[in-house]
Amino acid sequence: MFAELERRIDQKLKAGIDVITLAIGDPDHGTYGHIVEAMQGAVADPAFQRYPNNRGRDDFCAAVSAFYRGRFGVDVDPDTEAMPALGAKECIYHLSFAFLDPGDLALAADPGYPVYTSGPALAGSEAVLMPLAPELGFVPDLDAIPSETLERARLAFINYPNNPTGAVAPDGFFDRVVELAREHQILVVHDNSYSETTYDGYVAPSFLATPGAKDVAVEVLSLSKGFNMTGWRCAAIVGNADALRAYWRLKTNVDSGMFQAVQLAAVAALSGPRDPIDEMNRIYARRRDLVVTALREIGVAVEPPLATIYIWAPVPAGHTSASFAELVLEEAAVVISPGSMYGPSGEGFFRISLTTPDERLTEAVERMRAHLA
Ligand SMILES: Cc1ncc(COP(=O)(O)O)c(C=O)c1O
Repeated sequence: MFAELERRIDQKLKAGIDVITLAIGDPDHGTYGHIVEAMQGAVADPAFQRYPNNRGRDDFCAAVSAFYRGRFGVDVDPDTEAMPALGAKECIYHLSFAFLDPGDLALAADPGYPVYTSGPALAGSEAVLMPLAPELGFVPDLDAIPSETLERARLAFINYPNNPTGAVAPDGFFDRVVELAREHQILVVHDNSYSETTYDGYVAPSFLATPGAKDVAVEVLSLSKGFNMTGWRCAAIVGNADALRAYWRLKTNVDSGMFQAVQLAAVAALSGPRDPIDEMNRIYARRRDLVVTALREIGVAVEPPLATIYIWAPVPAGHTSASFAELVLEEAAVVISPGSMYGPSGEGFFRISLTTPDERLTEAVERMRAHLA
């Protein structure tokens, strides 16, 4: 399906058609100035050009710990409960290798970020999909997971604010996850890649703020989206000290840690001003409203999300995810992501990313209005 979509995009581009892509979640604004300046200062210093170590610099771990206290109200021991990861993707992938043996299972949100399933598969294990139920606010129905599955599960990947649905965790959901994990000895991996991208006064919590969470969970805090740092490959793994030790042991065999200049840039990011984040969120909120208004005008029932850089909406009646994405491409030369790309439960939905510059996004929305009304 995606190969076919790509072939058609390619065809259009070759025919000189101006195709606008709303499919990729990669901030279009640059990394905030104070972070770049910290990097520029550090990169020229020979001391920071040598091998780092996987455990991370003390100041990096201290900055993560201070961020967790100030932003989430969570106490994190910088020596045992925080360390760098080369992006959330790397971290999630390697956690599968650290914790899964053949025969084990990982529970993976469906729809979800693809590495929740590819990680376990490549580690020689298997992911069991947990459908995110729209009627429950796009969380899995935990009571519906068969007990044999829970007995074999070692990991559970969850993610709120959520990609691709834009959902935020409903009250009490994290508590239920902690309970389940404790009962079945499952390590919860909470992917917190969108905690800083929120709207309308919503403040996203850390999973680790849930009572008992540190006994059963790690959280991956990515700097990619909230700090416009997707290219930097910069994240932290935070939480259960035993789990971090296992990840660390694996990582010493895989890579040699995060470039120290990037760690110092992360310190600047985590301890720096929040104004640039707020400004970015104002830009995304404006774009969100633009897209939601246009979609409603063409008959798509959609609610504005409280977080993330995505609009997740049901396809119009009579369409599949793929057929609607194809229609939008054919009629409006706009690329949207078919929901089924993120797992079988994404069928019947599509995703639009808000990381396209205002002018292009407005043009895309106008085209959709003109051609699909
Ligand atoms: C839910 C989720 N997790 C992780 C990532 C990747 O994060 P990183 O850039 O830190 O690897 C993304 C990127 O789109 C994502 O949507």
